[in-house]
Amino acid sequence: MRIVRKTATVCLLAGLGLAGTAQAADDPIATRQAIMASVGAAAGLGGGMMKGEIDYNPVAGKAVIATMQAASFTFGDFFPAGSDQGDTGALASIWENADGFAAELAKLSDATGKATAASGKDGPADLDAFKAAMGPIFGTCKSCHETYRKKN
Ligand code: HEC
Repeated sequence: MRIVRKTATVCLLAGLGLAGTAQAADDPIATRQAIMASVGAAAGLGGGMMKGEIDYNPVAGKAVIATMQAASFTFGDFFPAGSDQGDTGALASIWENADGFAAELAKLSDATGKATAASGKDGPADLDAFKAAMGPIFGTCKSCHETYRKKN
């Protein structure tokens, strides 16, 4: 009896998990925030290595850059008209100046593209190479957030 109940609970939890995923896919605000949250996590790892708080590792360096590059390809797809309303940190300026916003996003994809090319197959060889690759990428965060994201 106990086993049966546990199984039912597991199925229920699995079902809820799937429902949650389906909802996120229909929700552009949640989706773009999840993409940016992945960029934020990568920035935490990258910044930690740059500050010497985390030992530098080329594979981790490569993952940081790849995460940010992937985000630059998908982020722009989740700003449909009307999604300036709701629980979002996005400013109306994104829709008022869509070209300007696209240009900021292009800066991120440009900088991450260059970093990817410079880091090669195995990732930036040492911390100095990683810092050189990341500098221009981190510049794009501030540049876009200044104009297109609400201040906290
Ligand atoms: C092209 C513009 C743009 C660039 C470039 C950009 N961001 Fe963002 N970011 C945004 C916008 C817009 C939001 C708010 C999204 C929302 O709430 O709907 C945001 C939100 C965030 C968030 C909060 C995510 C959440 O959980 O809600 C973090 C963290 C973040 N950005 C980190 C970064 C970092 C780090 C970089 C640079 C590597 C970066 N961003 C580059 C536009 C940008």
